[in-house]
Amino acid sequence: MSRGGTTRGRTAVIVGAQWGDEGKGKIVDVLTRTFSVVARYAGGHNAGHTVIINGKKFILQLVPGGVLRPECTSVVGNGVVIDPLAFLNEVAHLRAAGVRVDGNVFVSNRAQVIFPYHRMMELGSENAPGRVKIGTTSRGIGPSYEDKMGRRGLRVADLLDRELLRTHIENACREKNTIAHALFNSGPLDADKMFQEYALAAEQLHPFVRDTALLLNRALAEGKSVVFEGAQGTMLDIDHGTYPFVTSSSATSGGAATGTGVPPTSIDTVIGITKAYCTRVGSGPFPSELRGAEGEDLRQRGNEFGAVTGRPRRTGWLDLPLLRYAGMINGISWLVVTKLDVLDHLTEIPVCVGYKVDGKPTDEVPAQACGYEKLECIYHHLPGWTQPTQALRTLEALPRAAREYLAFIEKETGAQVGMISTGPDREQTILAPEFVSALALEGF
Ligand code: IMP
Repeated sequence: MSRGGTTRGRTAVIVGAQWGDEGKGKIVDVLTRTFSVVARYAGGHNAGHTVIINGKKFILQLVPGGVLRPECTSVVGNGVVIDPLAFLNEVAHLRAAGVRVDGNVFVSNRAQVIFPYHRMMELGSENAPGRVKIGTTSRGIGPSYEDKMGRRGLRVADLLDRELLRTHIENACREKNTIAHALFNSGPLDADKMFQEYALAAEQLHPFVRDTALLLNRALAEGKSVVFEGAQGTMLDIDHGTYPFVTSSSATSGGAATGTGVPPTSIDTVIGITKAYCTRVGSGPFPSELRGAEGEDLRQRGNEFGAVTGRPRRTGWLDLPLLRYAGMINGISWLVVTKLDVLDHLTEIPVCVGYKVDGKPTDEVPAQACGYEKLECIYHHLPGWTQPTQALRTLEALPRAAREYLAFIEKETGAQVGMISTGPDREQTILAPEFVSALALEGF
């Protein structure tokens, strides 16, 4: 990308096109073959990115997927909420597994810090009578973003300031303990103990802390390529998802700019990740959900259990109206279809191609959670391929019906399928030649 005589590095945003768990971790891992930096822009340790390399499983919660390639730089951006203890724990596990984490992983000095009182407030509110139960991951994510927006949060830069940290914890604990006791009858948290724990964590976190907006913009100016790693998915986005059954951050591609400090004009491509079917964890609308034996079958075949909480995921057929919506909100030009092999056994595959409300077709995705109750899915039945596709490496090797399934998704969404995941391992991947050249992945 040429700008004023200099050449900026190429960029791509990886975004979940459904309710999270689409397999973003794996595509980030594939792209880091030729991208130099991976920057996470939203969420916290509610995310769980699973990457399998030579049969070895890594679950990353906060540290971006780039860490699994030693030559790659990983950035936790300002849009992320960070639990320092969770981060340090993850880093320690990676280090113990022989993964390089020193000098290549950086945390934004502007990221917000999660404290134990955030978890206390979340647990209280999730279980309080009269409150809508969201089915959160109980990591304190929502209350931490509340404090950020309420301008009473603490940022990583402030965490490193011992006196500021002490005053912040004392004041916050006084306030949160009072509220939690009054509203939820929760016991008080000990401010002094919290300070000791966080002051120690701050010391250990210090070497990772940088002005990451500066780091990223400099990297781009030097011609380095950057992948922006989304967490969760479009339908969990605070603005565009199935509110209030959402997470508390901007999971969609727009969040990549605000969540890292890289301008929107520096974003070249948005890659949407979708499973070949649908899943969702937690409560909230899910138009194409399968209940009963069919749903259970998909859950078992797809091993659909949360990477972070182990909760069983709800399962359903591919929902094309939602995929079109995700395409519109994110500006998706490439789709990556994951877990195609989970459908291998089916003789016929239902796909939701549209919605009806009161018997009339509609293109609109409801703004109200209760609006989804009125939706009726219109299904189209595509022929299955009833042949194993696991571990296939080329488009030509795919059964014809599988290629037709993918072509149908392209036709209905207007986005091109650039990559297909045919199994959990790094190598179980099909790359379309056009995608390889557009993303400059040549040589692999
Ligand atoms: P929170 O992000 O913990 O506040 O949870 C809010 C909603 O987002 C709940 O329905 C969670 O199950 C869902 N959620 C949060 N993170 C993920 C994820 O990484 N994958 C799938 N669902 C998630």
